[in-house]
Parts: sequence; structure tokens; C-alpha cells
Amino acid sequence: MIYDVPLEGELVRLRPMREHDVPLLFGWYSDPDVRHWSYFTEDPPGLATLDAHRERFEMIRDDPAQLLWCIESMDGRPLGDIALQDIQPLQKRADLAVSIGEKSYWGRGYGSDAIRLALRFAFEELDCRRVTLVVDRDNTRAIRCYEKAGFLEEGVLREHRLRYGEPVDMIAMAVLRDGAPRGASRKNGRPRAPGRIPRRR
Ligand SMILES: CC(C)(COP(=O)(O)OP(=O)(O)OC[C@H]1O[C@@H](n2cnc3c(N)ncnc32)[C@H](O)[C@@H]1OP(=O)(O)O)[C@@H](O)C(=O)NCCC(=O)NCCS
Repeated sequence: MIYDVPLEGELVRLRPMREHDVPLLFGWYSDPDVRHWSYFTEDPPGLATLDAHRERFEMIRDDPAQLLWCIESMDGRPLGDIALQDIQPLQKRADLAVSIGEKSYWGRGYGSDAIRLALRFAFEELDCRRVTLVVDRDNTRAIRCYEKAGFLEEGVLREHRLRYGEPVDMIAMAVLRDGAPRGASRKNGRPRAPGRIPRRR
């Protein structure tokens, strides 16, 4: 699903991802340094194509349980993507996935700002109580970034994924609405109807 209204942060804006952005996604995930931290490492050559990324984009766009944004700098440069996935209105829960594809922007606060915006959306607009993620155990920059956003480690998922065929331990992390730092949620914000559906594209 694509949410039409951009979300403005301090360093980044989350804007709707559009079909014409698919070559950007393809380019970012074709960079071995970005791909390394994603499930795309296991894609057979036939899936690491522009067409495969277009199909994936169309699937996400049409799926009410997923929301995808393009992260862009305030001067309009596309930097990466961020998504809420497996949105469960009845359980008030969602998963977060994020990647800054422009690696010269890593470690400069852009990911933290994007996550803050996505969490605020999850807690205030989707009425989530809990947002979860999994991250490679050796992805120390990402783990630090998630901790800053209020995520806490909940356990180790042993050999949870393969990275170029090699098993990798992953860390399960989650943030609760009341555990998010100020700015990610307003504790006494307006109550929302369960399962409120955000504006579609
Ligand atoms: C993970 C990612 C989204 C984080 O975004 P970011 O903009 O780089 O993160 P931020 O700059 O907001 O925060 C990173 C924090 O980690 C620290 N850091 C940077 N490099 C680090 C490293 N190698 N080890 C540990 N900490 C590191 C930074 O100093 C910063 O902490 P600080 O604010 O206390 O100084 C981004 O780096 C990225 O997309 N990486 C590649 C793909 C990826 O790993 N995706 C996540 C898959 S789960």
C-alpha cells in the first residue's frame, strides 16, 4: 500500500514510492554493500533484475498489510526505502524494514530520522502497540540505530537466515508504543479506531 501524504522529519521526508522509483530500488539493492544486509543476498540471478523489482513493488503497492515509502533528503534526493510490513490491525502490530541505499549517507542520522517518522505513523495512524524487526547480529550500525529509536533486543534467532549460503544469527527487536522516545509517539494522542486504514494511493 502507498500512503499519499509525505511525512516530514528533520533530515528526511518519507514520500510515496512510485513505479518510476523502481530503478532506484534496483540500483540500491544491486550494490553489494547494501545487498549484504538484506534478504536479496539469496536471490538467484533471475530474481536480481529490474523486472523482478517491479513485480515486487506492484505486490507491495497492492497489499494492504504493507506500507512502503521512499526516504528522501529535504532537498529531494532519494536515499532509500522504509516499510511497515505484516501490519496486523487486530493485533495492533507491524514489522519495520529500512535501508539507506545511498551509502555515503550512512551513519549521518538519516536512518534514525526515517525510523522515527515510520514509528510515529505506526503508533499514531495505525494504532500499533508494538513494532518489531529482525537484524543480522553483526549489523552493529543498524542495531545501534534501532536502539536509539527505542527498540530493545528480545532474543537471538540462531542461524535465522542465509547470507550468500552461510547461516547468520539474527536479533529480534521490538519497541512498544509507550517505550518509544518522545517524538515517535504521543502517549496521549488521539485514540484511533482499530484497523483504521490509511489513505491509499
Ligand atoms: C541501518 C541503517 C538504516 C541505519 O541508518 P543510518 O542513517 O546509517 O543510521 P544513523 O546514522 O541514524 O545511526 C547509526 C548509529 O550507529 C553508529 N554507527 C555507525 N557505524 C557504526 C558501526 N559500524 N558500528 C556501530 N555503530 C555504528 C552511528 O554513530 C550512530 O549512532 P550515534 O548516533 O549514537 O552516533 C543504514 O545504515 C543502512 O541502510 N545500512 C545498510 C542496510 C542495512 O543495514 N539495513 C538494515 C537491515 S536490518
